[in-house]
Amino acid sequence: DWTMRAFKDHAIETVRRQVGSGRVICGLSGGVDSSVVAALLHEAIGSQLTCVFVDHGLMRANEADQVVTVFRDRFNIKLVHKDASDLFLGKLAGKTDPEEKRKIIGATFIDVFEEEARKVGGADFLAQGTLYPDVIESVSFTGGPSVTIKSHHNVGGLPDRMNMKLVEPLRELFKDEVRALGRELGLPDEMVGRHPFPGPGLAIRIPGQEITRERLEILRKADAVYLDEIRKAGLYDAIWQAFAVLLPVRTVGVMGDSRSYDYACALRAVTSTDGMTADFYPFPHDFLARVANRIINEVKGINRVTYDITSKPPGTIEWE
Ligand code: XMP
Repeated sequence: DWTMRAFKDHAIETVRRQVGSGRVICGLSGGVDSSVVAALLHEAIGSQLTCVFVDHGLMRANEADQVVTVFRDRFNIKLVHKDASDLFLGKLAGKTDPEEKRKIIGATFIDVFEEEARKVGGADFLAQGTLYPDVIESVSFTGGPSVTIKSHHNVGGLPDRMNMKLVEPLRELFKDEVRALGRELGLPDEMVGRHPFPGPGLAIRIPGQEITRERLEILRKADAVYLDEIRKAGLYDAIWQAFAVLLPVRTVGVMGDSRSYDYACALRAVTSTDGMTADFYPFPHDFLARVANRIINEVKGINRVTYDITSKPPGTIEWE
């Protein structure tokens, strides 16, 4: 795609001019936007870039490994991988309120990021994957009642606290253009085409219960089976987001000759263009039956599977 190649060359020039010989820090989450920023900056300024991946222990199966493999091993980017799962899970102990969980995760994320940035000697610039819709959204809400449905966590506030200037090379792009740029930069397809994933991760997919390693492990397994079947059915790219939710209820089942008493889980899949509104995805029943069978057979701890048929509004995409 020559337009994207031209955009890439232009963006690289702009970054080089802005940054000069300065040092840049970039927070990596494994998501599309921060991945593309990191790859672009690496091409523009090489070793002046350090990426910091704060691993909160709330990622899906294999995601943390993938980030390290792609960026450190394949791209040879300077990458700090901070496993902070004990700290995050410790702070989340006993917490079940969705907003409280988001706030704890957001604040802890900033603390850990700041500390890791200090350890590598700080930087002059902070790189962020701000997209064009984020730019307009932050200026378009004028007047009207302001109701916070969910306080989304991002790294807002960090640049001020850390006294850094911002580098935001994706500010003119929409999501599909970011994906095209990512491909142009040689990022793997599974990373560039990835569904959005919320900053607080799996913590908001274990509603109404304490987040424990055991529950996270059960949820990860169910989620991985579900996504595996979605990929096998060739449906991944037709869906905006798909995930499993571990419900705060145990139900009675029968496995072979014996009674089981395990968790129920819900499966969610939606189509959307921007996440603001969404429709549930109309899977064929045989697909749902296949996923349910596999989850119940393969995931110890789950004995019942339901499918969420709520659209947004009135529902939200995540359960919390
Ligand atoms: P909702 O659940 O509000 O989600 O319909 C809309 C989109 O936002 C994602 N989401 C979040 N992203 N921090 C994030 O970075 C959050 O706290 C958060 N909560 C929801 C959600 O996955 C969907 O893509």
